[in-house]
Amino acid sequence: MGFLNKLFGSTNKEEVTMANEKLNIGIILGSTRQGRVSPQVGEWVKGIADQRGDANYEIVDISDFELPFLGTTEGTEPGIAAWNQKLANLDGFVFIVQEYNHSITGALKNALDFAREPWNNKAAGIVSYGSTGGARAAEHLRGICGELKIADVRTHPTLSLFTDFENGSDFKPQSLHLDNVNTMLGEVVEWSNALKTLR
Ligand SMILES: Cc1cc2nc3c(=O)[nH]c(=O)nc-3n(C[C@H](O)[C@H](O)[C@H](O)COP(=O)(O)O)c2cc1C
Repeated sequence: MGFLNKLFGSTNKEEVTMANEKLNIGIILGSTRQGRVSPQVGEWVKGIADQRGDANYEIVDISDFELPFLGTTEGTEPGIAAWNQKLANLDGFVFIVQEYNHSITGALKNALDFAREPWNNKAAGIVSYGSTGGARAAEHLRGICGELKIADVRTHPTLSLFTDFENGSDFKPQSLHLDNVNTMLGEVVEWSNALKTLR
């Protein structure tokens, strides 16, 4: 390190430290309704992610922030600032997406609309569920990601309400999804690292 400092000065040292810092990746629960299954899915993804050791993973529950419906208040609720601060502290995201009427939930859309810069130039993966794996909701989210300058990775685990849940409520994922989740997480970490240089 002494030799590197002599050659490149302290800036290089900072860059080395930055590159070695672990990324913070938020696993965002997209549903807020009572009886929702998203916490089960989020905890499953976090369990897989934590075994990788390549980032700090945390569950981010939109319902904790008690966001009002955008534009219906003065915007002084502490949850709005806390939501923006939470996103600002994250380097990347994994969206846990459920399909409501062929799209994402109103709660997730509202939460997406409530921030701008904190989303920009960061990567995201999508894990979705529904009768057709939540595919239609996930594709809608990809369109929104483009506008928010979120780089959504290709690999997309899709969970079926019929074969990965019992009675539509007890999450029992098939083992075949494990590889896909790990591939998706690897892509999110790689792109999150790359995008850090833009911010
Ligand atoms: C308002 C509403 C609309 C729904 N529409 C769809 C749909 O279009 N396609 C689908 O596959 N599932 C649909 N579902 C089923 C949900 O995907 C399923 O209930 C899932 O568990 C919801 O996620 P959550 O439990 O985390 O809220 C809908 C559920 C709700 C509450």
